[in-house]
Amino acid sequence: MTRKRVLSGIQSTADSLHLGNYLGAVRQWVALQNEYEVFYFIADLHTLTVETEPEVLRKRILATAAQLLAIGVDPKESAFFLQSHVPEHNQLGWVMECLTGFGEASRMTQFKDKSQKSGSDRTVVGLFTYPMLMAADILLYQADLVPVGEDQRQHLEITRDLAGRFNSRYGKTFQVPDAYILKSGSKIYDLQNPTAKMSKSSSSVAGIIEFMDAPEINAKKIKSAVTDTGREVVFDEKEKPGISNLLTIHSLLSGKPIPEIEREFAGKGYGDFKAEVAEVVVEFVRPIRAKALELLENEPALMAILHTGAAKARIVAESTLSRAYENLGLVR
Ligand code: AMP
Ligand code: TRP
Repeated sequence: MTRKRVLSGIQSTADSLHLGNYLGAVRQWVALQNEYEVFYFIADLHTLTVETEPEVLRKRILATAAQLLAIGVDPKESAFFLQSHVPEHNQLGWVMECLTGFGEASRMTQFKDKSQKSGSDRTVVGLFTYPMLMAADILLYQADLVPVGEDQRQHLEITRDLAGRFNSRYGKTFQVPDAYILKSGSKIYDLQNPTAKMSKSSSSVAGIIEFMDAPEINAKKIKSAVTDTGREVVFDEKEKPGISNLLTIHSLLSGKPIPEIEREFAGKGYGDFKAEVAEVVVEFVRPIRAKALELLENEPALMAILHTGAAKARIVAESTLSRAYENLGLVR
């Protein structure tokens, strides 16, 4: 029996993953690896669309890899690798660029948002072609399912369009992948501004729980989270966004259903509740951080894991690329 394929990637844009990345996206990576054949990678080439100091980038790539392993990505059950270790991504990326209309690429909302923010002179061409590299990432592995956050939905759509277009022009070459978007409830909000998404780009540091922060810091952040007027611990996203966010976090990490937590805190105040959420978060993050730090201490061993992953990935990537080239009429 052949298992369906799952593929996903994450950029290495920060020193630490935050609770939003974890609960909204990478938590799924671990859950899916036993049931599917999985390919997980760090989109280090996509990260180049934002200029970063080489030393900082290097550190972030290794830290992201270590944290994903610490969270439970299993290098035996998956192909876990760096995008830049598999050159076929760029090679198929070019093919995807030659298949994409200029207008079509201009309509990508992430490109429009990001380029509007920085102005056209400071927007790099790589940001424009970002979705075509992402399409190549996915199509190279004939992925059936791609778990991503809601913000990546449009990139998945263009990937499906490109796969279909290639297949109808040049013969069936690529699996047309489905997006696997986590339901709401896994969207995590800023602790200081609970109507905005927890995000390293827009949240203040006090609003984000970072996996690589010391436990005391994270405990303090939860205890100082903005809560709402009133004193009952009940889930009500409209009237009580702060408490609702903390209930979501507690429930996803502890596995307890929200109504059960509400019952436990009936008649108690926000203070007791926040203390327990802090405990749940700290005890969840503690072993992950410790494991990541341990992995980072032995860089050669970490690199060996990534190289093994890239070798596994390349077997599939080479075969897909060579079929695509052949079907295009490139002489082999
Ligand atoms: P980013 O590095 O911000 O692009 O996030 C990487 C992944 O984490 C994406 O798939 C996002 O959808 C997901 N993510 C980021 N922030 C949050 C959040 N606050 N809640 C849920 N998911 C998030
Ligand atoms: N663009 C994705 C993000 O920012 C990261 C990514 C790159 C990705 N290539 C991918 C995700 C392929 C899934 C599949 O979150």
